[in-house]
Amino acid sequence: MSLTTKQVLVIHGPNLNMLGQREPEVYGSLTLDTINARLREKAVALGVTITIVQTNHEGVMVETIQSALGQYDGIVINPAAFTHYSIAVRDALAAVALPAIEVHLSNIYCREEFRHHSVTAPVVNGQISGLGYMGYLLALEALAALFNGGKN
Ligand code: DQA
Repeated sequence: MSLTTKQVLVIHGPNLNMLGQREPEVYGSLTLDTINARLREKAVALGVTITIVQTNHEGVMVETIQSALGQYDGIVINPAAFTHYSIAVRDALAAVALPAIEVHLSNIYCREEFRHHSVTAPVVNGQISGLGYMGYLLALEALAALFNGGKN
């Protein structure tokens, strides 16, 4: 068992601040604050420390990922629309090379065709898509398992 608490950075991308009002039939009715509260509860249960950031700006997301290097042990990220086209976000994830899990509330593979491709998926450890807010909790659980030498 590690003597220091693992630090996880949770990053929510553009328009996720509008959860609750935004297309509830697609994204559910929970607000981002509620999802974050559930993430904090899960973090306590798993014994990890989390920091949560939401941004609508690509450059801020890139800088947030860059700043994780040396500060965090892993990343949970929902890049939102950036998933589908931001090579800059992908390159930032590849550059820091931290364990990372990509989350999507909706199942991007049964939506419009432009959502079927993720440019970030190849540079993360895994992707969870379509399980609503649970995806974030499962991602945190997956990171905690990876920290403990999981995936064997
Ligand atoms: C999303 C899916 C993306 O296609 C979309 O642009 C989002 C949210 C999701 O969580 O399902 O903003 O990442």
